[in-house]
Amino acid sequence: MISRLRLALVLSSVFAAGLVVSSASADGPKPCLKTTYEVAQVKAACDKGGLDEAKKMMKALTDKAKAAGKEIKCNSCHENLKDYKLTPNGLADLKKLL
Ligand code: HEC
Repeated sequence: MISRLRLALVLSSVFAAGLVVSSASADGPKPCLKTTYEVAQVKAACDKGGLDEAKKMMKALTDKAKAAGKEIKCNSCHENLKDYKLTPNGLADLKKLL
């Protein structure tokens, strides 16, 4: 019984390690979706690290706004978080925050 448990533990850690390796070796970061940018900082983030970097940058912005007492969410500027379509105010709002 104990050895079975051990085997399961070993197998699950091998599996977990495999997952880490496979996600790290995926073809680099996921690229951003937009092809033209209005905001240099967003373009720079996308060029540097793709979608993940852009998200990080956006998150930092919402955190900054929050610290300044303005509660904004991704959905304040994006209609959805699939293709990141902007709301009519999205761009203007972002420029105000930069
Ligand atoms: C104040 C408005 C605003 C908020 C809040 C905001 N975004 Fe954005 N986001 C924008 C704008 C505007 C762009 C496009 C900039 C451009 O065209 O240069 C953008 C671009 C992006 C992109 C790149 C999309 C692409 O097609 O390349 C991602 C990813 C993104 N936002 C994720 C997020 C996430 C995740 C959050 C929440 C943590 C968030 N955004 C919050 C305004 C905002």
